[in-house]
Amino acid sequence: MNASLNRIKDSLLAGQPIVQIVSFEEKRVEGFLKKLGQQTLKNQNYFAWDSRNGLSRGEVPLPDSVLPGRALDAALACAEPAFFVFKDLTPRLRDSLDLVRQVRECYLQFKGSRKFLFLLSPDDSLPASLKKEVDIIHFDLPDYEELDALFNRFLESLTRAGAQVQLAAEEKRSFVTAVQGLTLDEATKAYMKAFQGQPRIHAALIEKIHYEKKQLILKENVLEFFTHALTMEDMGGLDRLKDWLLKRRKAFSKEAREFGLDKPKGILTMGVTGCGKSLASKIIATLWNLPLFRMDMNLVYSGIAGPPEDVFARSLKTMDSVAPAILWIDEIESGISDKTSDSSSSRILGYFLTWMQEHTSEIFIAATANRIDLLPAELLRRGRFDQIFFIDLPTRREREEIFRIHLRKRGNDLGDFNIPQLAQITKNWSGSEIEQVIISGMYEAFADGRKLKEDDLFVIFGSSVPLATTMEEQIKKVRSWAHNRAARASSDKEY
Ligand SMILES: Nc1ncnc2c1ncn2[C@@H]1O[C@H](COP(=O)(O)OP(=O)(O)OP(=O)(O)O)[C@@H](O)[C@H]1O
Ligand SMILES: [Mg+2]
Repeated sequence: MNASLNRIKDSLLAGQPIVQIVSFEEKRVEGFLKKLGQQTLKNQNYFAWDSRNGLSRGEVPLPDSVLPGRALDAALACAEPAFFVFKDLTPRLRDSLDLVRQVRECYLQFKGSRKFLFLLSPDDSLPASLKKEVDIIHFDLPDYEELDALFNRFLESLTRAGAQVQLAAEEKRSFVTAVQGLTLDEATKAYMKAFQGQPRIHAALIEKIHYEKKQLILKENVLEFFTHALTMEDMGGLDRLKDWLLKRRKAFSKEAREFGLDKPKGILTMGVTGCGKSLASKIIATLWNLPLFRMDMNLVYSGIAGPPEDVFARSLKTMDSVAPAILWIDEIESGISDKTSDSSSSRILGYFLTWMQEHTSEIFIAATANRIDLLPAELLRRGRFDQIFFIDLPTRREREEIFRIHLRKRGNDLGDFNIPQLAQITKNWSGSEIEQVIISGMYEAFADGRKLKEDDLFVIFGSSVPLATTMEEQIKKVRSWAHNRAARASSDKEY
């Protein structure tokens, strides 16, 4: 039985006349409410209102009820037990005191008279003056049972249409779990796209569903699916971090569980800008062969996808449903920090901490931070992340590797460059700055119609100052903070 529906029933049984149901799935929720109405009222008094069609009882529209005030009047005037389901009312309550007043009247009048008002909307914002009168219920996404039923209906109709179903019980289950986290409409669409025109329904079609799901997640705007194929070879130095990641390659396997290992939770990389924090996050995904999703905290806070806490919670739920996967939260301090004055960020922090503690899905968090001093202590406590890595400026040997990686990547012949010397004179340069120098040099060479020469690089080095020089104080601070709080990502110390 659907848990959200049970919560609604409990509300009604407790005599609560107004319930706000928060969901993106109008049609699905309405389906449930219609049935509930018949069970509860034993009559056909199911009224629905939306701003285009006004109020109607079943299929029969009531005249002159498009204006919400009129529709609420009609509800107030109704003398029998009834369900009133209002779809577009919630946002209007924000700027109409008259409507708020009418809803309060409904509350007083409906109480005890078996009339019930349901406010259906995708967000849970309500004027403060109504919050006490209204129960707010977040309607869960379809559960396994519901999705299983949907999938079986699909299989039946495909069979009727002459398709051959070749799926073992285990494979069927994976088709159902593949759409968990989607709305019923989205799941339907994903199945349709995967099965359309297929004479044979077989296990490999699940790829299509995974693809569809990734597309839907992109639509949310907050999670971005990454397909970069960066490997260990693209990252110079940072041997300890690499070693840590390599040892956990099979961390999500059954063998690891049987061996008695807990699932890894995640790492936090912090340190000097441009030294490979983001790069490392991308590499984990390739190395562990898991999909990578980046959560953009700025977009979470932008409000374009809804209230920040809702969007954040929904995104973590979505992640649970695409597991196993890597969740990359770049510059986590910009979203999950200790701004006590800002209630939505403290709620997000609370939610995140609980989720980190309790989620059972195989989601590995790769978080990065530049200003770790902004992060709340609870987040850094032992047991939250498996490890906190400090990525410092590259050492001389690491700079050599970085030169080789970026010169080679752009088709240069390593034999043309004295790499130890280049590394020697780029003390205090970050990996990103070294890469930028190579790119600028190549533009010079390209403009002259020749290959890149070592001299091009020397000219640029001579005329630019690395960030570390201008930010010396800040870097000292980061280093001293990291000294006994984080593990160094590199074992080398010879700058
Ligand atoms: N160790 C490295 N090896 C190879 N390339 C590197 C290394 N460090 C940085 N780079 C290059 O610099 C680019 C920028 O690095 P990255 O985005 O990982 O830095 P970051 O630590 O996340 O910096 P920021 O704090 O500015 O976000 C990388 O995409 C890569 O091309
Ligand atoms: Mg970065």
